[in-house]
Amino acid sequence: MAIQWFPGHMHLTRKAIAERVAEIDVVIELLDARLPGSSANPMLAELTGHKPGLKVLNKQDLADPERTPAWLAHYNAQPATRAIGLDASQAAPARRLIDACRELAPQRGGLAKPMRVLICGIPNVGKSTLINTLVGTRKARTGDEAGITKLEQRIVLADDFYLWDTPGVLWPRIIVAQSGYNLAASGAIGRNAFDEEIVALELLGYLKRHYAGLLEARFRIEGAAGLADEALLEAIGRQRGALLGKGRVNLQKAAEIVMNEFRSGTLGRITLETPEEFAQWLAAGQLL
Ligand code: G4P
Repeated sequence: MAIQWFPGHMHLTRKAIAERVAEIDVVIELLDARLPGSSANPMLAELTGHKPGLKVLNKQDLADPERTPAWLAHYNAQPATRAIGLDASQAAPARRLIDACRELAPQRGGLAKPMRVLICGIPNVGKSTLINTLVGTRKARTGDEAGITKLEQRIVLADDFYLWDTPGVLWPRIIVAQSGYNLAASGAIGRNAFDEEIVALELLGYLKRHYAGLLEARFRIEGAAGLADEALLEAIGRQRGALLGKGRVNLQKAAEIVMNEFRSGTLGRITLETPEEFAQWLAAGQLL
């Protein structure tokens, strides 16, 4: 099953970003540290390919601390690219963002040549949270200049450093099947676009292979990794009392439990893809 995902109005966002990008020095892309490859939008790369890019792996508090460095190294090895990890607990992330952008565009700075940065990210990746934190450190000023629509927000992070929020919404664009499952598991895709049971089974399949210890510890099911995905989902439902009549397990409820506990981090710090795995999915021709 592929995720049934039909993002609307992407063309408007594309047009708005294309118009904005000419006057931008650095593009910050906010990624979900639990699924960096899947939470990137390839459309953004197409539109901003030649611009220096800062990849911010957000929600790193929820991601596997052993895998985040591998993703950071992966991006840092790319030309004109820097990557940093962030999470909502950081009270003052502005310094790190500013420093990383200055490294990427050292020719910009000073009042005559202020740094102009665009921040983008798919829904639910934590963009509002980050912007609110940045705004908290310095009063936001919304743009009232020609060409800046009311939908855009200009944040002055330093006297010579302006940050613009993306015009429009950058919906996820799913290009490999596994990305669809990972995006759905993370909460980036609306509930109506996928079958929760199928996504939970995919998630359990991955967790069995890579995080069996966390699964067994959280759900207290001995030998969880040895069970078939369906049997494991059923065992979790039974364990948590998600039952229908006559002792049957409510698999829908069990699926919600698994996904909620992954999303909240209750299950543990988990990353659903490594750079190598993501490259393999792309190379395996699973393109949708
Ligand atoms: P968006 O603007 O990109 O759509 O995302 P938003 O900031 O609204 O964040 C989406 C959810 O992710 C929010 O949770 C937010 O609290 C959470 N979040 C953002 N950054 C981080 C982070 O670094 N770590 C963790 N653990 N969570 C983060 P929510 O449950 O939808 O709302 P809330 O009640 O927690 O605010």
